[in-house]
Amino acid sequence: MRKKIVAGNWKLNNDKHETAQLIVALLSDPIPSDVRVMIAPAFTHLVQAKTLTEGTALEVIAQNMNAATSGAYTGEISARMLNSIGINQVILGHSERRAYYNETDLSLKEKVVTALEHDMEIIFCFGEELDQRKAEKHFEVVKSQLEIALFDLEPASWSKIILAYEPVWAIGTGETASPEQAQEIHAYIRKIIAEKYDNTLAESVSILYGGSVKPGNAASIFSQTDVDGGLIGGAALNANDFKAIFQST
Ligand code: PGA
Repeated sequence: MRKKIVAGNWKLNNDKHETAQLIVALLSDPIPSDVRVMIAPAFTHLVQAKTLTEGTALEVIAQNMNAATSGAYTGEISARMLNSIGINQVILGHSERRAYYNETDLSLKEKVVTALEHDMEIIFCFGEELDQRKAEKHFEVVKSQLEIALFDLEPASWSKIILAYEPVWAIGTGETASPEQAQEIHAYIRKIIAEKYDNTLAESVSILYGGSVKPGNAASIFSQTDVDGGLIGGAALNANDFKAIFQST
């Protein structure tokens, strides 16, 4: 049985004070035991977030990392640095990283390997753009993304992979995939994993949906058979909204 997961991607938001305030507000009620709840604050606030969440079920994760473990890469953060402050989970391949920082499935494959070498759990993001959806190419796009970035992994590595299907046209736009659209493509994703590996592995992988999830639509999306939770952007910045979302699982 896959446990639901709700992760908040805070992106380039919240200073030190706002980060602390939001964490305190999220912890004012117990985190339900049937869902894993994660937050991804900025790198600069990860240590503070770890301290504030110590002994609670709220998991603190990173938004990104470099494929290299050390070296001359000014401004970058490594898996080793994250490990050293107790961060063992990372989001990779978010569509904003792909669009603004030229990340590709091939370069993400390297990051995935490095993260796994550092025993990190990965939320791997992928999904089609609007023109690809309109041209009904979304199935082949997600298949190619997964094939390039993940399908060379050994079966055992998949215990560290959480997938986040995020149609680019739904991120930050207010436009959400319908629950049926989400279910259709999540089922397809599980099918191609089963074809590449096997059914048992495919059934064990958590597949999150991301893109304009809000308190009003979370329950209907999360109730789909192959949707195991969500990656939340804008609505994760408001404690009440984020709580309502993870309480909808
Ligand atoms: P959104 O972002 O919820 O603001 O659409 C989702 C994401 O970027 O993961």
